[in-house]
Amino acid sequence: MDIKQTLKAHGQEHLWNFEGLPPEEREDYLARLEAIDWETVELWKNPEDLSGKGVIEPIEGLRIPEIEKRREEYARIGKQAIAEGKLAAVLLAGGQGTRLGSDSPKGAYDIGITKPLYIFEQQIKNLLDVTRDCGVYVPLLIMTSEKNDAETRAFLRSHGYFGYPESYIRFFEQEMAPSVGFDGKLLLEGKGKLALSPNGNGGWYSSMKRAGADRDFPGIEWYNVYSVDNVLQRMADPVFLGATIASGKLCGAKVVCKNAPDEKVGVLCLENGAPSVIEYYELTQEMANMRDEKGELRYIYGVILNYLFSARRLEEIAQERIPVHVVKKKIAHLDENGILVKPERENGYKFETLILDMVKLAGSCLPFEVAREKEFAPVKNKTGVDSVESARALLRQNGVEL
Ligand code: UTP
Repeated sequence: MDIKQTLKAHGQEHLWNFEGLPPEEREDYLARLEAIDWETVELWKNPEDLSGKGVIEPIEGLRIPEIEKRREEYARIGKQAIAEGKLAAVLLAGGQGTRLGSDSPKGAYDIGITKPLYIFEQQIKNLLDVTRDCGVYVPLLIMTSEKNDAETRAFLRSHGYFGYPESYIRFFEQEMAPSVGFDGKLLLEGKGKLALSPNGNGGWYSSMKRAGADRDFPGIEWYNVYSVDNVLQRMADPVFLGATIASGKLCGAKVVCKNAPDEKVGVLCLENGAPSVIEYYELTQEMANMRDEKGELRYIYGVILNYLFSARRLEEIAQERIPVHVVKKKIAHLDENGILVKPERENGYKFETLILDMVKLAGSCLPFEVAREKEFAPVKNKTGVDSVESARALLRQNGVEL
């Protein structure tokens, strides 16, 4: 079937419009149309069928007092692995940060008050604490997207990578996915330009492998994958790595104890006996409020997007298809008059894969508790909960001058 027919078959004839497009752009546009993954696009018809969850149960985790008892042993194991080049850090920075409302890469956000303090800067400082302690640099693999790659690279270069050696840094771009309106029509963001957005953080491993970002660092046995939007993120943590290795599990997840039953964080639990992260809106009220005999929440482990994955296991599961989530978002698009609109409200669906689904695929996972006031300062919104303001307060609490 040629492209025109394919578009027709999927009810997307509105995309067949090349009016005024220079030949080069026409070629690009055609290539984009040809690359559309229709199986994914058709998922808009059943956005997020959540009824398919298995039997959910609480999971056993490693709590802070137990970690403290064995801190030295775990640190020794972790530091040795780091010194032997077995750990790489993977920074997920391909998101668009729509809730923060800045068009620049989130890591380039200046969170300082009297002097600049960029999110990337603070995170690299945290990483340098570890590398200083271990006496070696850890490869830092940074995932960007087509939307922010050039800006991210230029920003970090112009700041001298905040003191991290360039030879240990590699960038790779994640793939893009098209978006549809609530009627399932693919959206355009310009003439001959599909409204594309990064395909979610679950694609990091395949994108990294495709780009060969880890090629220059043979011997990696663990990937520590973390999000850009937590300014207290402690990455390449030897104690976390040591504990995960000692546990024999194929994945580790830093978790915090939820501060309230209805806190909006994903919860690590067991689903049909396998580790699984379920979103806060998937947890029933009853489950969210369940307590054990000590009065503690039974579903207590909130994930903070800081995971360790065994390289060997990732290789094994690379062929499996990660589920695609259909997510309501505000999507800038051309209206019927060809005018670009930036909607105030959600107007369509994006298709995303999520890293939390990789925890299930990993098959086993160690929940590793950290103190939230020391390691969890998310920057999602401009004000209020998980915002620039709340992150600043937490930074100050941790002795960071702003
Ligand atoms: P979020 O789920 O908070 O998404 O990302 P986001 O795009 O940054 O922000 P909103 O929802 O539009 O406001 C969690 C982490 O995953 C990364 C982000 O950069 C952040 O570190 N991420 C997210 C990617 O790397 N790629 C994506 O496609 C999505």
